[in-house]
Parts: sequence; structure tokens; C-alpha cells
Amino acid sequence: METVLSGIRSTGNLHLGNYFGAVRNFVKMQDNNNCFFFIADYHSLTTYPTPHDLHNNVKMVLAEYLAAGLDPEKSAIFVQSDVPEIPEFYLLLVMNAYVGELERTTTFKDKVRTQPENVNAGLLTYPVLMAADILIHNADKVPVGKDQEQNLEMARKFARRFNHMYKVDYFKDPEPYNFGEDLVKVPGLDGSGKMGKTAGNGLYLIDDDKTIRQKVMRAVTDSGPTTPNSPVSEPIQNLFLIMNLVSQPETLSFYKEKYADCSIRYGDLKKQLAEDIVTYITPIRERITGIINDEAYLRKVSKLGAEKARASASKTLKDVREIIGFKTF
Ligand code: TYM
Repeated sequence: METVLSGIRSTGNLHLGNYFGAVRNFVKMQDNNNCFFFIADYHSLTTYPTPHDLHNNVKMVLAEYLAAGLDPEKSAIFVQSDVPEIPEFYLLLVMNAYVGELERTTTFKDKVRTQPENVNAGLLTYPVLMAADILIHNADKVPVGKDQEQNLEMARKFARRFNHMYKVDYFKDPEPYNFGEDLVKVPGLDGSGKMGKTAGNGLYLIDDDKTIRQKVMRAVTDSGPTTPNSPVSEPIQNLFLIMNLVSQPETLSFYKEKYADCSIRYGDLKKQLAEDIVTYITPIRERITGIINDEAYLRKVSKLGAEKARASASKTLKDVREIIGFKTF
């Protein structure tokens, strides 16, 4: 049986990018694998949430996970900060990570560029904490979106480096996973780039029908095709990509054909897309509202998840400490 692990930072509500990038694939894998899914609340500290927001974000994301189909009986669903073995393991791993390689990661370089006033060391060592999350359960597969590919590459590098350094074959190579296909990059509604929490271009699992319709109707388009079979511009390609995820295949081919013969009306395309998103999201949103106020259930789920995660993490940490050479007198 393979070990599957994934996680999401608790910095806001889940959007369709998170759902299709990480959650949906994970949900499909719960029956036949040893599964861990967690809320990366330590990672969220790089953005300095208030104490109130820190807790509420964790609670919200937990409710959203459950509503999206993660099953606490089948998987270990846990909060990162409930597992003290993770930061200890991170401390051990960070000694074997080089400042130069961390400075060269795309996400770090982006932060340096976009928020030069706050380049904290947590941002620099972010991939090490992420590697600790993954390697502490010796995961085989990590369902993630395309944007996490480089972080996964770092985790593999740290795993191999540890094995090499201590002449062991302890860690496996964790593989970024999307059922043998390319990793998913769900685009935003603003014509370019990916759907993101900070970009303000996202469709959220908790969005109500009206909000979804408004957001989709406002999505960026172009002036329309004028010659048959002309190449599809990025904003329209993005709408097709989202349609591919939420609509019936024949709906997508219908609009693609309309584009190809220049008879497409973007208003119709958007209306159809909005309705398909509403249909997709509504049952999830209804489950979220049912779960979010059930404190007792959320407590039970996180406690059970933490127990399962700690059982697995403490075993790895014990082995790693021995391999490194820590001994008690
Ligand atoms: P985060 O919270 O930014 O995103 C969580 C997951 O959602 C995916 N995702 C997307 N996928 C497709 N299209 C998009 N537009 C899109 N936006 C986000 C991400 O790829 C990710 O899979 N560092 C991680 C959290 C983390 C983690 C881990 C993940 C910490 N430790 C260990 C896996 C394993 C992060 O910030 O993801």
C-alpha cells in the first residue's frame, strides 16, 4: 500500500485551484492508500495572521476539506501544529539545506520581488518545512498543483541527500501526482496566471450562486474570433480550461466548435460556465455550512487525525535520530 500525502496552507478559503490541484485527486485515492491530508498552519505564519484569524482559518479549511470529501475514517486529516515531530524534523533537515539553493527557488525569488519589505527566513526555508511534512510520513505520492512542482523537487533532493549523507536507503522519492497526467494549473478569471488566494481572481468553494455568476460574467475575454480556426487567446483558453473541469464534455466541445466557426457569443459561454460552476460547488458549499459550526465534530476529527499522524511521524523521527547518531545516556 502506498502512502499519499497532501496539504494546504491555512491562509484563506479554498478556491477551485486548491480543489482541483490537491483535494480532488486525494479524495479519489483514500480507499486504496495510506492517506495523510493536513492543514499547513505553520506555513501560514509567513504572512502573520492575527491569533484570531490563525485559528479561524484552520477551522474553515478543515470544514472545507471534509465538505469536499476527505474522510476522517479513511485518512489522517490533521493540523500541522498538532504534530510536534514536524518542527523537530525540520530542524534536522534544515542543517542539510544550502542557502544558495533555497534562494534560487522560484517562489522565494517571487517573494523577494513582490514583498521586499518582508523577506523573512521562514520564506527562505519554506521548502524545508514542506519536505519535513512529506518525508516524515515517507510519502510515495503527493497530489499537488503545478505550482508546487519545484517544492516537490526540493523535497526529493533533501531525501536523496539525507540517504547519501548517512549511507542509508531510508527515504523514498516523493512523486508529485495527478493520475499520470500533467499537474493541474487552474487559471484565474482575470485573463492570465493561475487562480490564487492573493490574486483576487478566484472562485471559492463557499461562494454563493450570485457571487459565482457575477465573477464569471466579469471574467476577462477578448474581442472574439474573426477567422475560422484561429488560435485561442489566453483569456478564452482559461475559460475553456475551467469548463473542462466543471462541465460536461459535450458542453466544452460545443463552445469550442462555436469558437472555431466564429459564431461564439462570450455572454452565452459565460452563462453556461457560471451555471456549471454553481452546480458543481453548491453541494460542497451546503456541506461546509453544515460542518463549520459543529465544533465537537471538528475537534473529534482533528484529534483523531493528530493521533494517526503522530504515530507515523514519531516512528520516522526516532529512526532519523538514530541514523544521525543521537543517543540517550
Ligand atoms: P497552497 O496552500 O498554496 O495550495 C494548496 C494546493 O492547491 C494547489 N493549487 C493549485 N492547483 C492548481 N491550480 C491552481 N490555480 C492552484 N492554486 C493552488 C497547490 O498546488 C497545492 O497543491 N506549500 C503548500 C502547502 C504545503 C504542502 C506541504 C503541500 C505545505 N506542506 C506538503 C503538499 C505537501 C502550499 O502553499 O499550497
